[in-house]
Amino acid sequence: MTHARPLRSTTTGAIRGSIRVPGDKSISHRSLMLGAIAVGETVIHGLLEGEDVLHTAAAMRLLGAQAEREDNGQGAGVWRVRGVGLGALQEPAQVLDMGNSGTAARLLMGLVAGHPITCVFTGDASLNKRPMARVTKPLEEMGARFVGRSGGRLPLTVVGSGDLVPITYRLPVASAQVKSAILLAGLNTAGATTVIEAEPTRDHTELMLRHFGATVTTERLEDGALAVTVIGQPELTGRTIHVPADPSSAAFPAVAALLRPGSELLLNDVGMNPRRTGLYDTLVEMGADIAFENRRDQAGEPVADLRVKHSALKGIVVPADRAPSMIDEYPVLAAAAACAEGTTVMLGLKELRVKESDRLAMVAEGLTRCGVSVEVGADDSLTVHGTGKPPKGGATVLTAMDHRIAMSFLVLGMATEEPISVDDGAFIDTSFPDFVGLMNGLGAKISEA
Ligand code: S3P
Repeated sequence: MTHARPLRSTTTGAIRGSIRVPGDKSISHRSLMLGAIAVGETVIHGLLEGEDVLHTAAAMRLLGAQAEREDNGQGAGVWRVRGVGLGALQEPAQVLDMGNSGTAARLLMGLVAGHPITCVFTGDASLNKRPMARVTKPLEEMGARFVGRSGGRLPLTVVGSGDLVPITYRLPVASAQVKSAILLAGLNTAGATTVIEAEPTRDHTELMLRHFGATVTTERLEDGALAVTVIGQPELTGRTIHVPADPSSAAFPAVAALLRPGSELLLNDVGMNPRRTGLYDTLVEMGADIAFENRRDQAGEPVADLRVKHSALKGIVVPADRAPSMIDEYPVLAAAAACAEGTTVMLGLKELRVKESDRLAMVAEGLTRCGVSVEVGADDSLTVHGTGKPPKGGATVLTAMDHRIAMSFLVLGMATEEPISVDDGAFIDTSFPDFVGLMNGLGAKISEA
């Protein structure tokens, strides 16, 4: 990903059609990792074939597992993973390059920490800026060792151990990545490893660990926090996995349809895990017409088909405690808020500062360039003043290697008076391959700038 790919989005008419956005990124990473340490074969349908997940697949191969795509002749590939068995990951002969992906890096650091091997992790310029001490600290308490750059940042070496001690750890930040790293380290550790979270974060690791045969329990504590415990050294057996469409990716066409008059869009098979659906609750509160049809269970994860129609949105206050369930969706919510009637206040956004970019700063800066009145509060809140009609646009927005910033402003450009360009859309491939083709197929006008 060396060449920048500037893109421009021009005002469009109605967004209409029926699509399935690519597979869930969180679930895809986890299915490759757990498949790699299970005994036997794991078959994955609907894996996200975005660059982030392909980095995880490459890493699992370097760690000794087989992970291959099998073309079923109909375009959709099925992935087959042959695991090495828990505790049997091999020391990689190469550096593990996690690209742009914080999830790949942090979860895998946890997994290898519980193996008696040494691994060197690196990433791209965005990932190598992101804080890793949040995972290395608890993993050090368990007995793994790390040598990284200042702030624990990548490139970083993990010296793992087959003899970690189990811990009970209260998360200082609401982070599913940190929770998952500890649980994955606890897998090859004798005894019970517990993570306590004050605010519930996505539980795909827990659900999938159970699916593979591990014992994972949750207990509500007196103070309301949730204690998640994994019992170490389970027998993990290869499984079949059906990855739902990613609710975080579905958010982009959904908001596009809400913003454009005459739109009606069906989004099929979207993951509806309640710890991921904060954006949809928020949009409905803002007046969005979204019907959740055909609710069902797909291999342990709830899914639904979402029917989204153009709607007049109004500004609301989004409470801080909703942040974990929509942490990746604030950029596109901000685009929606910019077109809504009245003010939207989003509270508790501190974690946005350490995503693929400083998303709070990038969203505020981009919206300002597009003629939207915004304020960033000292409490890491974002206030967007909507006027009830789309803003002017007519600007180039900086994306700082961040796929979601790029997609959010391309969606906003579908509604603004003048086109919006983004300086680099190349990183969209990390999570949403063929975003441009899919959106244009629905009526968007996104082109190389
Ligand atoms: C993820 C957790 C979240 C989210 C990320 C995916 C996961 O990160 O932003 O895109 O798959 O566990 P944090 O754990 O940093 O909140």
